Amino acid sequence: MNSNYKEKIGTVMITQEEILKRAEEIGEEITKEFQGEEVVLVGILKGAVLWMADVLKNIQLDCSIDFMACSSYGSSTKSSGVVKILKDLDASVEGKHVIIVEDIVDTGITLEYLKQNLISRNPKSVKICTLLDKPSGRKNDLQADYVGFTVEDKFIIGYGLDYDQKYRNLPYISFLDN
Ligand code: IMP
Ligand code: MG
Repeated sequence: MNSNYKEKIGTVMITQEEILKRAEEIGEEITKEFQGEEVVLVGILKGAVLWMADVLKNIQLDCSIDFMACSSYGSSTKSSGVVKILKDLDASVEGKHVIIVEDIVDTGITLEYLKQNLISRNPKSVKICTLLDKPSGRKNDLQADYVGFTVEDKFIIGYGLDYDQKYRNLPYISFLDN
C-alpha cells in the first residue's frame, strides 16, 4: 500500500532554525532563573522529545531528565478531556525544581492535570515549558511559564507533534492540510 506521506502537510509555519533560536533563549532564561539550583526536566512523551533535547542542551545547571506519558483518550484531533497516566516518572521529584516540557498547550486539560499531579508530590517548584501555545483552544486558565511560539487555531504537525502518530519526524512546524 502506498503512503501519501506529503499529501496532508501544509506550508512551513516555523522553521528548525527559529525553534533552535527560541530553545537557546529559553535555556538561558532557565539557567539564570535557577542559578545555583538543580532542576528536573520532565518530558511528556512522545511529542516533547525534539523540543526537550533542544532546550536541555542550553541549560547550564545540574539538570536531570525524566519522562511521563499520558493520553487523553482516542486518536482524533480533538482532546477528550480525560487524562490517564500511561508511564510515570522513574524518580521522586520531592524537594526538586520541576520543569514540565510539553509539545503544545491546547485546551490546557493535560497540563492542568499533570501540574496538579506533580505538585502533590511535594516538589520545590513546578514550571511549564512548551514548544507551542494555542490560546484559542484553552478551556481553563492554565498558562505556561516558557513558551516557544504562539500558534493559531490549526491542527499542528511536525517537530514531535503528530497526527495519528505520524509526522513527528518533520524537522519544522506545519499543519494538517485537509
Ligand atoms: P490539551 O488539549 O492542552 O490537553 O493537549 C493535549 C495533547 O493533545 C497535547 O499534548 C498534544 O499531544 C495534543 N495536541 C493538542 N493540539 C494539538 C495539535 O494541534 N497538533 C498535535 N497535537 C495536538
Ligand atoms: Mg499527541
